[in-house]
Amino acid sequence: MWTRRDVLQALAAAAGLAAVPWPLRTARAATAPDLVLRLTAAPDTARIRPGGETAVLRYTGQVLRGRADALRPSASYLGPTLELRRGERVRIEFRNRLADPSIIHWHGMIVPEAADGHPRFAVGPGGEYVYEFTVENRAGTYLYHPHPHGLTGAQVYHGLAGLLIVREAQERAWGLPGLPHELALVIQDRRLAGDNRLEFKRMMMDDMNGVLGDTVLVNGVADAVFRVSPRSWRLRLVNASNARIYKLAWSDGRPMRVIATGTGLLSAAEGIQTRPYVVLAPFERIELLEDFGTRRPGSEVALVSREFAGPGMMDGMMGRGGSSGGMMGGMMGRGMEGMMRGMMGPGQGEELPVARFDVGTQARAAGEELRLPPAPRPPREGHELHTRLAFRHMRGFLDGRRFEMEAVADDERLPLDEGTVWTFANDGGPMSMAHPMHIHGVRFRILERSTGDAPADLRDGLVDAGFKDTFLIFPGERVRLLVAPTEPGLFMYHCHNLEHEDGGMMRNCRFDARSPAGRT
Ligand code: C2O
Ligand code: CU
Ligand code: CU
Repeated sequence: MWTRRDVLQALAAAAGLAAVPWPLRTARAATAPDLVLRLTAAPDTARIRPGGETAVLRYTGQVLRGRADALRPSASYLGPTLELRRGERVRIEFRNRLADPSIIHWHGMIVPEAADGHPRFAVGPGGEYVYEFTVENRAGTYLYHPHPHGLTGAQVYHGLAGLLIVREAQERAWGLPGLPHELALVIQDRRLAGDNRLEFKRMMMDDMNGVLGDTVLVNGVADAVFRVSPRSWRLRLVNASNARIYKLAWSDGRPMRVIATGTGLLSAAEGIQTRPYVVLAPFERIELLEDFGTRRPGSEVALVSREFAGPGMMDGMMGRGGSSGGMMGGMMGRGMEGMMRGMMGPGQGEELPVARFDVGTQARAAGEELRLPPAPRPPREGHELHTRLAFRHMRGFLDGRRFEMEAVADDERLPLDEGTVWTFANDGGPMSMAHPMHIHGVRFRILERSTGDAPADLRDGLVDAGFKDTFLIFPGERVRLLVAPTEPGLFMYHCHNLEHEDGGMMRNCRFDARSPAGRT
């Protein structure tokens, strides 16, 4: 809960920052930004499906200086897409016109501490926060979303999120389809009441499983349809759902050709990764190269989320997809189970339609040859860190700890500009579930995932190649990452199931020149 003291602190911080953000003072004096944007968060309405407008929260944007095409408006409640170029100096003025504190975090972006949108920088209603950073990230698909402690889930669910795309001049030379032959699909599940009101938490289970909707929206609309010409397209798939994990597949069974994961393109050495389906956890992104020219002109193909035996609690109790194997299914009659399912479902792992693609009838266009960029040299592995994930009494813990606004333990420190091997272990046990873990301010590689612990019906859809900022860890699994932070300061790591995050499954971590006192 947000205490009055926190609000006062946030307001005080905001007042100070609006005047002269201390870490930015020198940067601002030295160089004027190429781009000045304003993003305002405020209540609004949106047309999500027929039958009346839905009350939402929404980011609106304005270009105050620089390229007018740095913001692309969205069709529904999502914020405008930020189109940034690598190397650009950006200043973003955030205005909070909500009834609650908020702050924006640039998910996946490597920016200075003061521009990261840590919850301690949240500003109250009417407050402002000024961000300044240079776009260091490689070309890729990123996101922005609110990050006030305890309120992130509700604010995202009601509409606050947007895409942030980083472009590089070389992308065309690499043979990637550019606009208009690329599409971004922001995938979110929502539950709308009969009057089209968004329904957020409805029961205690929602805090444990995370809030799941019964309808998949793409870019803020239900039953999304895309018209595509018969040629090669770049598809950016983004999971911006509070808690739902998708097992994305083509309805016609064609494999998915993955060219990028979380923070940018795969390397030439890794090449295009082909998967029968792709598992996308909350706030993970993946890019596909899809040649719709290989399909019959005038045909339709759907992107669907396939059924899986989910790692969620409710699923174990309810049984799946109407099967009567569940614990409660056995205890209750069929009718009762059906009723419960209608009220709660669809649970984690149930089959859901996502979007439809209509292939045009024009002549097929030949695609270019893709040349992925070379991989950078990996950092030296000098340090080790271990984090045990646990879930008990309806709450998630990181090494037995929960979030405290300023606290950072000795074993949560990472050295700057050096490789740390960070091992995450997800405790087994009766309440264990999959957690999408995220680290701020860095990109990392997955070195190793313990074999045999990922569910058999999800395993083939994990893409552990490339650089990432979010990864899914299943019950009983151990995942080892290699990370080399480049920005000094206080950042954070947390479960990106937004209800787990708001519940405190989140911790600070510090990147600095000191060597960590962590166990080795
Ligand atoms: Cu996308 Cu700390 O969050
Ligand atoms: Cu982040
Ligand atoms: Cu979690």
